[in-house]
Amino acid sequence: MPQDSAPSLLHDTAPATPGEPPAAASRPVYDAAFDWIDTARAARHRAGLVRTLRPRPADSPLLDLASNDYLGLARHPEVTRGAAAAAHRWGAGATGSRLVTGSTELHARLEAELAAFCGFEAALVLSSGYAANLAAVTALTAPGTLLVSDAGNHASLIDGCRLSRARTEVAPHADPEAVRAALTGHDGRALAVTDSVFSVDGDAAPLPALAEVCRAAGAALLVDDAHGLGVLGDGGRGALWAAGLAGDGDVVTTVTLSKSLGSQGGAVLGPARVIEHLVNTARSFIFDTGLAPAAAGGALTALQLLRREPQRAARAGQVARELHERLTAAGLAAVRPDAAVVSVRAPSPEAAVRWAADCRAAGLAVGCFRPPSVPDGISRLRLTARADLTDAQLDTAVGTIVATAPTA
Ligand SMILES: Cc1ncc(COP(=O)(O)O)c(C=O)c1O
Repeated sequence: MPQDSAPSLLHDTAPATPGEPPAAASRPVYDAAFDWIDTARAARHRAGLVRTLRPRPADSPLLDLASNDYLGLARHPEVTRGAAAAAHRWGAGATGSRLVTGSTELHARLEAELAAFCGFEAALVLSSGYAANLAAVTALTAPGTLLVSDAGNHASLIDGCRLSRARTEVAPHADPEAVRAALTGHDGRALAVTDSVFSVDGDAAPLPALAEVCRAAGAALLVDDAHGLGVLGDGGRGALWAAGLAGDGDVVTTVTLSKSLGSQGGAVLGPARVIEHLVNTARSFIFDTGLAPAAAGGALTALQLLRREPQRAARAGQVARELHERLTAAGLAAVRPDAAVVSVRAPSPEAAVRWAADCRAAGLAVGCFRPPSVPDGISRLRLTARADLTDAQLDTAVGTIVATAPTA
């Protein structure tokens, strides 16, 4: 490590004024330890993979096809009022782990209503969908467990597999026979994990076939329904409900409260004994501050609204199908959506970034997925259908995407 800045010689130990830190110019420079970051940054630039944070105004004039607010509930007045009322009653934060500071009736009610809505025996809410996936995967495995994970799974499931220290076999995408082969001959605990709807291409996992191969091998099935809740199943009850698997004794699901419920947080749903086991063993529940009351109140209100207005779920799917049909008819490589995510392939990461920027300049916000966020190295625009999009907005969105498309 280069030591040419001789930091100790520069160090002015006495503050200029008692109680004040030394002036910046007189402080030592200790930054050589992070010089490797400049190399990594230069490599990102060369590969066209730089990410930047853009400011987001409270009232963006952009038409939004980038967020995961599938049902248009994040700013629904009833939902924001529900969030605010919960913060007023229970405080801005949960103040600690629920095992330490106690579990509010708000959390208990959200868990009961979520479990009942999705058709599971019990639920546990956590501070994010990410934390819910870490909790489910790590608590349901041990070093001797065989984990079989779909190659297209979300990063949070992948990180759960890494943290679990179980032997993980990555199965080819959406391939029940590959899962069967991985499970065959294994003696002992096994868990297959999959997204219900894959976040990159918006395609659905073959859940009934996966459940069948798991049952044949005596393995449990864990499904991340982040993109299915609120969109799939009767009135948005989720992919497990749609597949006839909700509430089965060998099936566990995770959801996020941050997509169709327009709030923040996550949950694990399954048999009561699984949930009780998570309360006792899941580190991302035990050692994490409980879900913030505003997030719990917002999600609970959104859930109640969805029960009253189940047509929102069907509308999100219908908007997605229409987007796909019209983009395909215009010659774009859009993937047929199984829920509310529509993915459109771009020729390169640079072209995808430019395409998304051109859409934005024309007033349309779209997502842009490129390596390393995509498992197959293919860059795409990612569009999310929203139940509250009008036909005129849909026309505008399609017109903008087609007009700004890269010429191959
Ligand atoms: C499939 C999937 N699982 C889990 C998550 C994580 O959920 P959260 O954002 O609530 O942490 C996401 C969010 O992007 C997701 O797409």
